[in-house]
Amino acid sequence: MDKAEAKKIVNNYSFPTEGGSYMGGIENRPILAKSIDRTVTDTEGKEYIDFQSGQMGAALGHQHPRMIKRITETMKTMFHSSNTMLNVPRLRLHERIGKLLPRLPRSVFLVSGSDSIEAAIDLARKATGGLDVLGFHAGLHGSTSYLTRSLSFNWNRRKHAVVAPATTAIMAPYCYRCPLGLKSPECSFKCLDISLELADANFTSKPAAMIAEPILSAGGVIVPPKGYYKKLKRELEMRDMLLIFDESQTCLGKTGKVFGYEHEEVTPDILTMSKHFGGGLPISAVCTTDEIAQKAVDNGYFATRSHATDPLLCAAGEESIDIVVEEDLASRSAHIEKKIKGAFEEMAKEHEMIGDIRGRGVLLGIELVKDRETKEPANDALAKIFNYSLEHGLIFQSRGTRGMLNVIRLVPPMTSTDEEVDRALSILNDAIDEASKTLGKKTSAAAAE
Ligand SMILES: Cc1ncc(COP(=O)(O)O)c(C=O)c1O
Repeated sequence: MDKAEAKKIVNNYSFPTEGGSYMGGIENRPILAKSIDRTVTDTEGKEYIDFQSGQMGAALGHQHPRMIKRITETMKTMFHSSNTMLNVPRLRLHERIGKLLPRLPRSVFLVSGSDSIEAAIDLARKATGGLDVLGFHAGLHGSTSYLTRSLSFNWNRRKHAVVAPATTAIMAPYCYRCPLGLKSPECSFKCLDISLELADANFTSKPAAMIAEPILSAGGVIVPPKGYYKKLKRELEMRDMLLIFDESQTCLGKTGKVFGYEHEEVTPDILTMSKHFGGGLPISAVCTTDEIAQKAVDNGYFATRSHATDPLLCAAGEESIDIVVEEDLASRSAHIEKKIKGAFEEMAKEHEMIGDIRGRGVLLGIELVKDRETKEPANDALAKIFNYSLEHGLIFQSRGTRGMLNVIRLVPPMTSTDEEVDRALSILNDAIDEASKTLGKKTSAAAAE
């Protein structure tokens, strides 16, 4: 299929989609036809390094050979089954996750990330008898049209027809742009104190939970400062509220540890995972303690979908966990993080537009600014870098907090080789050089040379 035919189909039969202003029109987007390992190929035969890991579902790489083997074997025996009966892959997956998360040994399975968030919030509400839920103003938790969108404050809630009641935002700890002009840790997380004082005033009922990502991915790869989550957990406990960690983007190796929460000195009460959990197939999980599961069930809790316990999806979940653990992909992520951050630190010596380099493992963000003092977001530079990279065979996504699109988000598959990372970095280096010629400026050190 060529671009002209694709454009005709999109214009006549698909819903009009924006796709992000940095991407340009339909003609600018490849029509993907094939994927393997870390590479996707379009209908014209052009190859791209996929530093977006599909839609984050291919963090093991596309079509990992062990995933193909396991899925093929399972397909031959049973791929769909009743969710009121038991089946072996489902049972094995419960056990596998329980052993991986001994403090949160109880799990339920669903299909999408949004499903898991809906189910996690219902779980918190049934376990606490509360209703109000807090989320970060730069957070994203899904696209179901009611609850998860209402908690995705990084999008415009006012675009939705109806917003779910008892959902309130608190200020994300976005230290690079601290609205109080403070520095952590000396600030003692003042933003949290102010946010919670406001939240206390806003609650419309007994509060139930706070939902948070260990790294706020879509909000611009924001990493909360060390100690922030520990204080948040204490504050929540004082209010009998639960901490839900949405680990859709941070679970299973991606941050350099098996779970994102392992970087913090807290264990959440409820943890959700999705995206690459199924190794490319859609399955999600909600995990919690014995006590929370029991309390919630006593109050009528249940969560499922027709396909939630399909043997095919559960076997995929178990295999992907085995791959992450047996191939030690967390260490591989940590190695890739070092390589990418090191390369950008070098580029930052020359290019003023590189304002901040952050993230963990294979969830990294480079925030672009017009000026390091004023920190004016460099959305134009990012659009140029995106287009140059796409043209030269590299895919990534642009993200940012509430309307800013100035963060290069790099999510390479954990299985990326050094050679692939170097190739992607070389394209990004050239793209930044090009963008600097028209939109950026050199750092004073580079200009003096
Ligand atoms: C942190 C986070 N939570 C939840 C979701 C929703 O997942 P899904 O699109 O599978 O419903 C996303 C999607 O990008 C996400 O980034």
